[in-house]
Amino acid sequence: MEVVITESPRAAAATAASVVRGALRADPSLVLGVATGSSPLLMYQDLAVSVERNEISFSQARAFLLDEYVGLEADHPERYGVFIERSFTRHVDFGRSAVFGPDGSSDDLADACRQYESMIASAGGIGLQILGIGVDGHIGFNEPMSSLSSRTRLKTLTMATRVANARFFSDNVDAVPRHVVTQGIGTILDAGHLLLIATGGNKAEAIARAVEGPLTSMVPASALQLHPRVTIVVDESAAEHLSYADYYRETFNSKPTWQTL
Ligand code: GLP
Repeated sequence: MEVVITESPRAAAATAASVVRGALRADPSLVLGVATGSSPLLMYQDLAVSVERNEISFSQARAFLLDEYVGLEADHPERYGVFIERSFTRHVDFGRSAVFGPDGSSDDLADACRQYESMIASAGGIGLQILGIGVDGHIGFNEPMSSLSSRTRLKTLTMATRVANARFFSDNVDAVPRHVVTQGIGTILDAGHLLLIATGGNKAEAIARAVEGPLTSMVPASALQLHPRVTIVVDESAAEHLSYADYYRETFNSKPTWQTL
């Protein structure tokens, strides 16, 4: 695991975007796992600028969403399929039908989840997975107590997550769906490289528990400790509770020139 501490949310976005650019240049047909939430938004903007400048292209790449609410109508603005189109994919050059998400409005959600796993497998698996983190340490919508080997499935949100996400629903917690479908922790751990972005002091506790705490299903992001290639990009505020922060800074600042993120 590599922890990169940056001076601001914008610098965190720039660092994370450089990881995506590197992965895309190494493999133009990259299968990218995309996350919603506010954490990756600046990074998505940075990537859109890179496409505009012809520095990179997503034309041969594919994208798979981490998760989706259950029961929101097809054009609901907070449906994650709509959110990711609005905040990222429409601003870059993915081909037609190259962006996928789990079907949260299927009549048979269990089957939709199985199909989503098959779609990811048929694409050859996710090469680079972008992640945010919830204040309770969730990744995707894998709430505390999620099995560390779980696959895409139906989950019930905690009240803490519904309250946190109410800001996207006119601050009305009752409008936040109770149920979601999400890639499991096992699904996420199958990706080749995990890139987690967290900024702001409200994420500091979750980051410290995920990076330095014990491996536990009570902090789903602690499962990242099991993965051989993880990059965690945080700003100073989100790094506040990391007891090895100086070591992470020193490691990053003394990286050999041949070693990329
Ligand atoms: C939601 C998403 C997660 C995201 C989390 C944090 O619960 N399902 O993928 O990481 O929110 O969101 P934010 O980045 O807005 O804090």
